[in-house]
Amino acid sequence: MALDIDYVRSQFPAFSAPNLQGQAFFENAGGSYTCQPVINRLTRFYTERKVQPYAPYEASTLAGAEMDEARHRLAKIMGVDTDELSFGPSTTQNTYVLAQAFRQFLSPGEAIIVTNQDHEANSGPWRRLADAGIEVREWQIDPQTGHLNPADLENLLDENVRLVCFPHCSNVVGELNPVTEITALAHAAGAFVCVDGVSYAPHGLPNVGELGPDIYLFSAYKTYGPHQGLMVIRRALGELLPNQGHFFNGDSLYKRFTPAGPDHAQVAACAGMADYIATLAHHHGGPLTEGATQGAFVHDLMRAHEVELLQPLLDMVKDRNDLRLIGPSDASKRAPTVALALDRPAEGVAAELAEHGIMAGGGDFYALRALNAMGVSTSDGVLRLSFTHYTSKKEMTQLMEALDRVLSK
Ligand SMILES: Cc1ncc(COP(=O)(O)O)c(C=O)c1O
Repeated sequence: MALDIDYVRSQFPAFSAPNLQGQAFFENAGGSYTCQPVINRLTRFYTERKVQPYAPYEASTLAGAEMDEARHRLAKIMGVDTDELSFGPSTTQNTYVLAQAFRQFLSPGEAIIVTNQDHEANSGPWRRLADAGIEVREWQIDPQTGHLNPADLENLLDENVRLVCFPHCSNVVGELNPVTEITALAHAAGAFVCVDGVSYAPHGLPNVGELGPDIYLFSAYKTYGPHQGLMVIRRALGELLPNQGHFFNGDSLYKRFTPAGPDHAQVAACAGMADYIATLAHHHGGPLTEGATQGAFVHDLMRAHEVELLQPLLDMVKDRNDLRLIGPSDASKRAPTVALALDRPAEGVAAELAEHGIMAGGGDFYALRALNAMGVSTSDGVLRLSFTHYTSKKEMTQLMEALDRVLSK
């Protein structure tokens, strides 16, 4: 069944906002529009439940229950236990806390592997472990294509490696990395795996339990939700790593890597992401029961729509000689996050596109290592055109016409 795009867009108030009419949004990899169920829950929390949660009066009980509901429902969709999912202020901060835990856990002389394809969030905090005598090995992308080759990882793995960090998909290369295959390689060598799923999750929440990594991170504010970082930490690793929370919270797996008090309203509102997935499944005749099967149905629905809309854009840009398409030109191999290296600063081109009602961005998108490795000028940066399942064919046409006009000037 094809995605009912009108129904999808009716779930996002931004599409009815007067100031956004005629504006086609192509900076979704920076942050998505928020779906109605999340906005409803956020509003309800702030108006009816904004008290300290988990106390024995009704508003508080409801507040705490809604926070638990968010964790429980999203964990189920991702195929993990409720206490294996936790919330933090952002993915960058979550990674930072995890890196602190590994700093205490690892011994000098042990090694970790990071990539130069990642956003800095899943790179810098890990690389700083070098200060503690940890050997940091870099799994490098192909300088032409930006591709991360699993065979190159095999050459870096040995019995010293304790952790492998890589992205499910990079926010500039866009290529989908084979998480299951890479995880199997790392696990076979005795290493844990940390996957940055920030650029992937908006295109359909994955079944993390099935994919197999020990850590999977993503950001709700790019996935139709509020400004939260979500992290799955599988039990075996989570119980092994030293507790980073208050000492008296150390027995709760979901509290061990979130030292700050959580943003109650935003955690609760994340249940709206599960509402949205359920509503899409119901509307399209998918599974009625919530969980990983329903999540997979919605994931595939989103993905099919995105691939269909993405291919014409890739076909349009792949052979132009005034730009360089970063990453694969086959839509089935990538997320709809398309970075283009131009012969001038990308931010200026984004500004010209804005005159045609296109909202896009230009810059390095905190993926400086990847751009440097591919020989892309980081001062010019890349023009990034990123969309999601709620993008319409009409908006794609608007984008392609505007892009052609601006580039051909
Ligand atoms: C691939 C990727 N990883 C990590 C991050 C950082 O996420 P956060 O803003 O939640 O720290 C981003 C943000 O743009 C990203 O695109």
